[in-house]
Amino acid sequence: MSLLELREVTGGYGPITVLHGLSIAVEEGEVGVVLGANGAGKTTTLRAICGMLGKVGGSVFFDDTDITKASTQSIAKAGIAHVPQGRGTFTDLTVEENLRIGAINRRDAGVAADIDQWYSVFPRLAERRKQMAGSMSGGEQQMLAIARALMSRPRLLLLDEPSLGLAPLITREVFEHLGAINRETGLAMLVVEQNATIALGIAHRGYVLETGSIVAAGDAQTLVADEGVRKAYLGF
Ligand SMILES: Nc1ncnc2c1ncn2[C@@H]1O[C@H](COP(=O)(O)OP(=O)(O)OP(=O)(O)O)[C@@H](O)[C@H]1O
Ligand SMILES: [Mg+2]
Repeated sequence: MSLLELREVTGGYGPITVLHGLSIAVEEGEVGVVLGANGAGKTTTLRAICGMLGKVGGSVFFDDTDITKASTQSIAKAGIAHVPQGRGTFTDLTVEENLRIGAINRRDAGVAADIDQWYSVFPRLAERRKQMAGSMSGGEQQMLAIARALMSRPRLLLLDEPSLGLAPLITREVFEHLGAINRETGLAMLVVEQNATIALGIAHRGYVLETGSIVAAGDAQTLVADEGVRKAYLGF
C-alpha cells in the first residue's frame, strides 16, 4: 500500500463541493506533485489530508491507517507536516524560535542537533538565526517554513505552492533543496504547484487537477513527454 492514499475524496466549504472524488497516491520515498491553476482545489486537497475541512467524503489513508476523520493535531503527530500556502511562519519570532516550534511535539533529545543540521542545509537561516522571521525575504521565509516543518521529523511533507511570490531563481533554489532532501533522506513529499515545469523536475509522479477533478495522472516523465497533456494542462 502507498504511504498516502486518497480514495475518491470529496470535500469543500459548507454547501460548496470543491473536490469531486480525487484519487491520489504518494509512495514511500517519492515526490508526488499536484498541478493546477488558481482555484483548481490544490489548497483544499491539502486541507482534506490534514483534517482541516469540515466534512470529507471518500477516504484518506496514511501508512495503512484511515485518517479521514482524524484531527489536524493527530495527523501531524502521525508524521504529516504541512507547509501552508503563504508559508505560515511566526513573523514576530526569530528564525531559531520558529525552528523550535517545529519540534514542539517531539520528546527526544535530538532537537538541537536537528536545528544544526538544517542550518547546514540552509546556511542563510543560520546567518539569520536571531532575525525576526517577518523581516526576512520571501525566499528565506519559504526555506524557514520548510525547515520548520522538517523539525517535526515528518514521514510525509505537504507543500502548498512553495514557488508563490518568489523570483524564478529563488524558486529554483527552493526546489533544488526539496529535491536534494528527498534524494538524500528519502522523505516523501506531496507538492501542489502551478509551476509545472519546476515541480515535475523533482517529482516521481504527477497529477493534473482541474476544478476539483484529476484530469491526468502518470509518472512525471510520461506526463512531461505527453504533448496533449502538456499543451492542454501544463502550458508549455
Ligand atoms: N474558506 C473557503 N470558503 C469557501 N470557499 C473556498 C474557501 N477556500 C477556498 N474556496 C473555494 O474553493 C475553490 C478551490 O480553492 P483552493 O484554494 O483549493 O484553490 P487552489 O488551487 O489552491 O488555488 P490557488 O492556486 O489560487 O491557491 C475555489 O473556488 C475557492 O473559491
Ligand atoms: Mg492554493
